[in-house]
Amino acid sequence: MSSPAPSTLANGGRAQAIALAAERRWALAVGIVIALLVVMMIVTGLHWAAMPPSRVETVDVKTLHLAGEFVEGNLGTAIGSDGKVTVRLVAQQYSFEPQCVVVPAGMPVTFRGTSTDAIHGFVIGTTNANTMLVPGFVATFTTTFQQPGEHLMPCHEYCGTGHEAMWARVRVVPAADFLAKARNGERQSCVPR
Ligand code: CUA
Repeated sequence: MSSPAPSTLANGGRAQAIALAAERRWALAVGIVIALLVVMMIVTGLHWAAMPPSRVETVDVKTLHLAGEFVEGNLGTAIGSDGKVTVRLVAQQYSFEPQCVVVPAGMPVTFRGTSTDAIHGFVIGTTNANTMLVPGFVATFTTTFQQPGEHLMPCHEYCGTGHEAMWARVRVVPAADFLAKARNGERQSCVPR
């Protein structure tokens, strides 16, 4: 039996020490990353809570149809004095008002919606436009539809026996067509009259 030369033993020991130090550095780096992610999850979880996106904006369900932003004559798509496009809509058991929403292609569109009764929600076709509509809160999001076309907009929160029949349409039209019609400041929709 011949034992290893003393220099080989020393080399092995040094290599092990270097490997251990590297291992410790990586463990520390990974630990910091995990700690950061956990802090991020806690902060965003507490910050956003289980509320609609614009949880700070409330509206009185009892007077919704009588006065304010969501009266019937104000629903639909409008261009503000700042040139921004806003869609206002109301969900109720079991329909959306308006039934057909018209929006321009290639322009940011802000949706503002609420519900008069149960919790509703909608998703627009295969786009990422998706929100809940909670009574007493105004849900808001802004999106841009790139291509003209027509999308289905079903309610995606179970809201009662008529839930599956609750849907509207979103018609995306070329921006020039939309602007030509919207110039007079009227509320636009594509509901047949
Ligand atoms: Cu409204 Cu489901």
